[in-house]
Amino acid sequence: MERVLLISKEPEKWEFFKEKLACSYEFTASKPEDKHDFSNISIIAVDDIQSIGRVYAAEKKRAAPAVPPIVFFGSDDLTTEIKARSQGVADFFSIPFDKEMLILRFKNVSAMARLIRANDDSLRWMRMIRREMVSVQEGMAEIIAQTVESRDENTGGHILRTSMFINELGTEFVEKGVLKKEELSLIVRAAPLHDVGKIAVRDSILLKPGPLTDSERNEMKKHTKKGADLIKKMQKRFESHTYLQYAHEIALNHHEHFDGGGYPSGKKGEEIPFCARLMAVVDVYDALVSDRIYRKGMPREDAIEIIFSGCGAQFDPAILEAFDNCKDYLI
Ligand SMILES: [Fe+2]
Repeated sequence: MERVLLISKEPEKWEFFKEKLACSYEFTASKPEDKHDFSNISIIAVDDIQSIGRVYAAEKKRAAPAVPPIVFFGSDDLTTEIKARSQGVADFFSIPFDKEMLILRFKNVSAMARLIRANDDSLRWMRMIRREMVSVQEGMAEIIAQTVESRDENTGGHILRTSMFINELGTEFVEKGVLKKEELSLIVRAAPLHDVGKIAVRDSILLKPGPLTDSERNEMKKHTKKGADLIKKMQKRFESHTYLQYAHEIALNHHEHFDGGGYPSGKKGEEIPFCARLMAVVDVYDALVSDRIYRKGMPREDAIEIIFSGCGAQFDPAILEAFDNCKDYLI
């Protein structure tokens, strides 16, 4: 049996309506000031104009599915009817009324309620499918990043550590109000893809157990553009993924230097996207403290000193100021 929520200061006033509809509808009474529960309600019946606005406002706050249709019980007054209908009521029932007509019109409102519920179910289903697709696509991007990392025996755990560092460092800027929390969350999600372009670097260069020649270094430098191109392709397929924009900026620019001496474009200062300036610091710091096949990682104090020696040259001074504040949390 369908449920009708009757919101009224005097619900007993509408007993005669309820009796006529009792064969098909179960009524629950509630006062206007009560906290209403609309779950499993097919129709909402109100008898004052204010309640209509309150119902819509309460539903908006819950960000819930659409409001069940609202019907109005009132006296035969055209002004009230116009007001109620202009606020979106599905039907207006006034005294005197015809019993047969009342039942027929309630059937129409019930049909409307079923359509609203069906539409809500479809929307919920679509949202769920979309969430799952986003999660699968993000998972795939993560797997690609991990595959690249697993090829390079030098960089075990680099992706995880740099993501953690970038979160630490970025939080400093969130606290200062420079960065929104949501932006930092996107940057942290984008960070694992910073070296994805290494997928296109030959093993003989990527896995070389020693310093690279000039030509090998130039080949290695191409991982920035190659990574950016790859992410661009992902962006075309997964248009809704905002974090890929950050991933693109980071992959392309994380080896640019603040003074213009980096690669691939020699951008300087604020020409380099903020997220890439963040990644530049954590990427170099992690490389310095990590073991390589041909050398041991250096102690964190020495790595921190080297990072600060690049202030204003390789690194953005504002980011190093934040780095100084959170360096105690770094591994
Ligand atoms: Fe890189």
